[in-house]
Amino acid sequence: MRVLVVYASERGGTAESAGWIGVALREAGLDTDVRPAGEVAALDGYDAAVVGGALYAGRWHREARHFVRRHADALAHRPVWLFSSGPLDHTAEQRQIAPTPGVGKIARRLNAHGHATFGGRLSPDAHGFLASKIAKRSSGDFRDHDQVAEWAAGIARELRGATKTG
Ligand SMILES: Cc1cc2nc3c(=O)[nH]c(=O)nc-3n(C[C@H](O)[C@H](O)[C@H](O)COP(=O)(O)O)c2cc1C
Repeated sequence: MRVLVVYASERGGTAESAGWIGVALREAGLDTDVRPAGEVAALDGYDAAVVGGALYAGRWHREARHFVRRHADALAHRPVWLFSSGPLDHTAEQRQIAPTPGVGKIARRLNAHGHATFGGRLSPDAHGFLASKIAKRSSGDFRDHDQVAEWAAGIARELRGATKTG
């Protein structure tokens, strides 16, 4: 079984989280590629997909939105999981955070098997007008590697279970 992990990231935090998911899926025995959303031309050869995007101003990163629009048909025919990376505090470790309305709509449209919101990361010297303002009050790395890896392990269990039962 081959899995594609796709991500849309502005400052690298979500890209790294996608990499953790890739490692966890491989450790669980799944053949996994991790690619930026803008570079994926087709899902041919993949049996399942995980799509993740950074949250900016309450929305999924533009490239994640474009990716799911461009590949809506292919995604509708495969098991799909979604994740968002955002909160610059510890809330994502403490409780499940619902997807933003736009991501929720995408999850329903794709009949996604699951969605997770993971903590985000913002460097104290982030560039950009808004980013530097936000960084003044809430910079830091709120990503939880183990939480991300455990979520991915759950995906692997579901996929492998599906293979066994046919
Ligand atoms: C301008 C700006 C807007 C943001 N808006 C949100 C938001 O609406 N919701 C949220 O949870 N996080 C928000 N964040 C936090 C980012 O999602 C977080 O830094 C994320 O980890 C960035 O991922 P990246 O490094 O892959 O770009 C925002 C950050 C910036 C700089």
